[in-house]
Amino acid sequence: MLRIRHQADGGAGLLRAERVRRPEPGAGELLVRVRAIGVTLPVVRRLRGSAGPVPLGGEVAGEVAALGPGVTGFAVGERVTGLCFADAYAEYAVLGATMASRIPDRATEVEAVALVRSGLVAGGAHAAARPEPHESVLVTAAAGGVGTLALQYARAAGASRVVAAVGSADKAGFVRALGADAVVHYGDADWGGPYDVILDGVGGDLLTPAVRALAPGGRLVAFSSGGGTVEAYELLLRGASVIGFQIRALVTGHPELHARRLRELWHLHATGALRPAVHAEIPLTGAARAHALLEERRNLGKVVLVP
Ligand SMILES: NC(=O)c1ccc[n+]([C@@H]2O[C@H](COP(=O)([O-])OP(=O)(O)OC[C@H]3O[C@@H](n4cnc5c(N)ncnc54)[C@H](OP(=O)(O)O)[C@@H]3O)[C@@H](O)[C@H]2O)c1
Repeated sequence: MLRIRHQADGGAGLLRAERVRRPEPGAGELLVRVRAIGVTLPVVRRLRGSAGPVPLGGEVAGEVAALGPGVTGFAVGERVTGLCFADAYAEYAVLGATMASRIPDRATEVEAVALVRSGLVAGGAHAAARPEPHESVLVTAAAGGVGTLALQYARAAGASRVVAAVGSADKAGFVRALGADAVVHYGDADWGGPYDVILDGVGGDLLTPAVRALAPGGRLVAFSSGGGTVEAYELLLRGASVIGFQIRALVTGHPELHARRLRELWHLHATGALRPAVHAEIPLTGAARAHALLEERRNLGKVVLVP
């Protein structure tokens, strides 16, 4: 089978295609014939300057090709999706059964990888803010895989105003079409606030202007891989709070809540309230091109690899 591996070279490294034997699923694992792979920003960022090879993880979707020892609740041929932490860029991938969930008949594999992990992050971050229907919401990295769904979550929950923050002006039409009432750019002196809720997928230096855009009692949910520091005095001035959200902590620590959120996600997809946006479907051998789209911050929605 074909697989892409990362080879470090001090820069972003090389993504090399290689022919290898199909992996065997171990205990509690599924072997999946992969039809779609979601490219994620955390993986793209880890490649830059890495001293060693980076495991290429990502969301995968496809049919179950084999069951490892002890797996129950799944059958060969069923369509599933889930997050692989390594060797996801391949024609066959090994997926932990606890990470896997079924894809409803109406959805394609490409839709599944664009919806599930990003939607669980968007929905989880939104819920962590405990928003009230009349409140205003700002979403940063709003044109990205998670951001596009976070905008739609806020809209579906009845936010009074949903504002998209993006890195470049040419993304404005795209995020408006997804339901944003207004668009701001990170460099704007005025972010159009104050906001009751900010869902932040950027972090780093952007945390300071974001916290300053919070309303009294406002909540910022930090879910980015961008790090950053929050000035406590800025929170004190507004009686505001910062809440962290991580999907892995939800999946491993609260499996019942995770399962409920997953059902809600597919329900919102069925009603049309959540429409995953796919920027491009790129063949597996074009993985470097797919990474460049995220690194150059040009993607409008999810970038998907198709083996
Ligand atoms: N907490 C969790 O469990 C969890 C899970 C998955 C993802 N995340 C985080 O959610 C955020 C979005 O992830 P995603 O996979 O959906 O990616 P994505 O939004 O599709 O990623 C690409 C977009 O992110 C924005 N961006 C912000 N900072 C960037 C940077 N330093 N380098 C490149 N792009 C940057 C860019 O848009 P603009 O230029 O318009 O900002 C870019 O187009 C990331 O920070 C990721 O780490 C968190």
